[in-house]
Amino acid sequence: MAQLGGIPIIILKEGTESIKGNSARNKNIQAIKAVAEAVRSTLGPRGMDKMLVDSLGDVTITNDGATILNDLDIEHPGAKMAVSIAKNQDDIVGDGTTSSVLFASQLLTVAQELMEQGIHPSIITKGFRAAMVEALEILGKVSKNSNMDREILEKIAVTTMNSKGVAGNKDIFARIATDVMLKIMEEGKSSFDNVSNIIVLKKKGKSLKETEVISGVVLEKEPVHPLMPKLLTGDIKIATIAQAFEIKKTEFSSELRITSADQMGAFLDQEEQVMKGFAEKLKEYGVNVVVNQKGIEDTAAHYLNKAGILAVKSVTKSDLEKLAKATGAKITEDISDMSEDDFGKAERVEFKKIAGDDLMFISGCTDPKAMTILLRGGTINVVDEAERTLHDALCVIGIMIDKKNFVAGGGAIEMEISARLLDFAIQAGGKEQLAVEAFARSLECIPIALADNAGLEPIDIIANLRAKHAEKGNDGWGLEIFAGEPANNYETGIIEPQANIETFIKSSTELAILILRIDEMIRAKKSAGPPPGMGGGGMPPGMGGMGGGMGGMPGMM
Ligand SMILES: Nc1ncnc2c1ncn2[C@@H]1O[C@H](COP(=O)(O)OP(=O)(O)OP(=O)(O)O)[C@@H](O)[C@H]1O
Ligand SMILES: [Mg+2]
Repeated sequence: MAQLGGIPIIILKEGTESIKGNSARNKNIQAIKAVAEAVRSTLGPRGMDKMLVDSLGDVTITNDGATILNDLDIEHPGAKMAVSIAKNQDDIVGDGTTSSVLFASQLLTVAQELMEQGIHPSIITKGFRAAMVEALEILGKVSKNSNMDREILEKIAVTTMNSKGVAGNKDIFARIATDVMLKIMEEGKSSFDNVSNIIVLKKKGKSLKETEVISGVVLEKEPVHPLMPKLLTGDIKIATIAQAFEIKKTEFSSELRITSADQMGAFLDQEEQVMKGFAEKLKEYGVNVVVNQKGIEDTAAHYLNKAGILAVKSVTKSDLEKLAKATGAKITEDISDMSEDDFGKAERVEFKKIAGDDLMFISGCTDPKAMTILLRGGTINVVDEAERTLHDALCVIGIMIDKKNFVAGGGAIEMEISARLLDFAIQAGGKEQLAVEAFARSLECIPIALADNAGLEPIDIIANLRAKHAEKGNDGWGLEIFAGEPANNYETGIIEPQANIETFIKSSTELAILILRIDEMIRAKKSAGPPPGMGGGGMPPGMGGMGGGMGGMPGMM
């Protein structure tokens, strides 16, 4: 309720709930801390998994921060914001979601302490922003260029996979992910566009070791004619077509009066001639395989078979596009416009039954810009988690190829930035200095959580790492979880893309600042329905909806 010259002015509908100041802030902070607590134990190679059970009883076992947060049915608006930064992290770099939520929560925890000491939130946000800018600057200076070195890319993939369920097969997966990304990566395209040209097909098998890479595309298809070959090898010419091999149906129901057998014959002949024409034209070009996004009717299938052409139909648009990218074909929408450079090439086309499904393998493409990973595993849960892990690995390699620079992991980069920020804090001076220092110390939450989750003593480890990072040239020193002690992680090969760290620092800081700036949370009571104009507090119609935009905020108080 506002006051104007001592007269109270009511601007909110009766029944509107509102909390203000530190109380509003603290509620949001509490909610974000709770989200961070939910994922903290999953951080790092010794992190635990979560078992998520949905309302239908389906089980997902995962260590992936983004997956866990996505599946939680979160109501609190502050907590929802934490989930959205994790999603943002996942969308930009595909990894580092747990770290981003942990760091945001830690920043808010220290901000709360500073506020208790009487420091105003606007000083804290100013200090955090300055610290973030400086942290990114330091990150840029410390990071090293990978020069597209294959060994570095594989190590980065292994670091990402260390913390996931497939850890036992991480070397195979790192090799696969690196091979595939190096082959399909196109200049000037974002990592995500490139990753989207990889088909990951999941099938049950004996173990993850059976996973294979196909230099081409695998389709869940069978030939349109039973006599078509099941195996072709050699120089195979492929036509990717998006035109129906059938007589067009009219849009109106029309009647065709056929009065004699001759007429009938002529009518059918004409239809047959068109189909025969398609097959002959393709044969003239020397096409061996037709992959059609549209239908192929029986007469067409018959003539294609007669012409010695193998054909499949009703392929999805996205599969056809990937096939075109893999084989170097151009998709034909009208056969009469076809030209020699529309065709793609492959060395092998084969139909095989895998885990009970008929699959068509089109492989041996020379310069494929789309490829397939056939992921095999003992149980569906294993294959699903392997798919998420492989996705993380493909994304980090993609990011590395795109952005090139990397840093040491296991908390090394966080400790280095922290140490250098503490020096910078002194220059900042005043109350802001406290916020910059608090930011610097907050970065230690990553090595602390890594150590905690591995059952190691964080106090000893942090003291040791602080001493290392106080000296120049030790920026690689972090925790090596498998040895259980600090190590130079450039040497142990625990390395991460600079872009991962950059994104998580930026997005966590932005979230913390956003939360600290909120000084009131308002929720309108759901209107039970006095007719318009009769709204609470005698307000004119339309004014009562002020808090309405936040109507979906149950449980916020
Ligand atoms: N052998 C290792 N020793 C120490 N730390 C490691 C090792 N391997 C990986 N790490 C560290 O583990 C952290 C990543 O853990 P994790 O993958 O669980 O979380 P995330 O990447 O933040 O989130 P998510 O993968 O769930 O999106 C990074 O800080 C990385 O440097
Ligand atoms: Mg990770």
